[in-house]
Amino acid sequence: MADNDHRPLVAVLFGGRSSEHSVSCVTAAGVIGAIDAQAFDVLPIGITKTGVWRVVEDWASMRFDPDAMPEVTDNGTEVIPPISADGAPLLQRDAEGACTELGAVDVYFPLLHGRFGEDGTVQGLFELSDTAFVGSGVFSSAASMDKHYTKSLMAQAGIPTCPWELVTETMWETDRASVESRVAELGLPVFVKPARAGSSMGVSRVAEAAELEAALAGAFAHDSKAIVEPQVIGREVECAVLGSLYDATLRTSSPGEISVSGDHAFYDFDAKYLDLADAEVTCPAVLDEATTARVQELAASVFRLFDCTGLARVDTFVTDTGEVLINELNTLPGFTPTSAYPFMWAQSGLEYSELISELISIALVDHARAK
Ligand SMILES: Nc1ncnc2c1ncn2[C@@H]1O[C@H](COP(=O)(O)OP(=O)(O)O)[C@@H](O)[C@H]1O
Ligand SMILES: [Mg+2]
Repeated sequence: MADNDHRPLVAVLFGGRSSEHSVSCVTAAGVIGAIDAQAFDVLPIGITKTGVWRVVEDWASMRFDPDAMPEVTDNGTEVIPPISADGAPLLQRDAEGACTELGAVDVYFPLLHGRFGEDGTVQGLFELSDTAFVGSGVFSSAASMDKHYTKSLMAQAGIPTCPWELVTETMWETDRASVESRVAELGLPVFVKPARAGSSMGVSRVAEAAELEAALAGAFAHDSKAIVEPQVIGREVECAVLGSLYDATLRTSSPGEISVSGDHAFYDFDAKYLDLADAEVTCPAVLDEATTARVQELAASVFRLFDCTGLARVDTFVTDTGEVLINELNTLPGFTPTSAYPFMWAQSGLEYSELISELISIALVDHARAK
């Protein structure tokens, strides 16, 4: 892909303003460590919790540690991305205010989760500056970040998803009785979740009506919108999708099943990131052929419905009656070397480094096609 004269410059973005800042740092260490250095030049750019971009040299030290989660901190320098579409280089401003050029980015690789990363905002900057980037664009990112709109679009397209009720902070403050009656209609237990968050942050299971208030407060700590869903009894099965908006062929991985053990009522933040022994992905999931095909077919339909490109992980519930319901769509799924998305690909014959190269290639080809 790269000739000897020019290796594409890949700016890897991580950290950021979302509540998944630390998770993103860990992902970056995995990706930068595995990227094909013969094929690409890498510029590691960390984004602080207040949104300052800076070059991070010691990316390799970022790993999960419950006592000291990794964080990009401000060191007085700043990377300034261009907004013009003329191929201008990134600038680095030092602590004294002097600017130097860091080179023109060929492709951004956002490893940002959640808000300001997975929600279309930073994708807007890439699109403004006419730079290639890994993953989905503004619309798909924004639509799949918001669980209420994700579910609305799927329901309208006939893609099965479990019922839900939207509860905004305003509704809860001004018309509590109607919220309570809508939730009662769903039947207990219910799951309460922020509309735009991730990593199970702010998600809780409500078994009794009296717990609703605290659960909504937990969700509203992450977003002013929450959704409430009846509990689905079934297995959690995920599917990795890889492809391009401009390519008729989509690849879906073997589905993987998440099983959670230990002291977790569901697949919560701790099970995802801290008590790693308590969450296991079995891939290929033990499903009959028809269910496997159904998961893959629905995952591909969801990818297309949202105009995704590059990558997405589609998460489903396979109910006890064998029905497949789509729970959510992640356009920038967890991407550490052990995360479900890369793991499902590895189990389907595509290794981590190859997957990274593939995603960068798709981004470059998409960008050329979009012109
Ligand atoms: N309706 C539901 N029924 C059963 N479990 C649920 C339901 N909604 C969420 N969960 C549990 O909560 C976890 C997190 O919810 P999810 O919608 O995937 O949000 P996030 O974007 O934070 O991953 C799921 O992986 C699952 O374990
Ligand atoms: Mg999830």
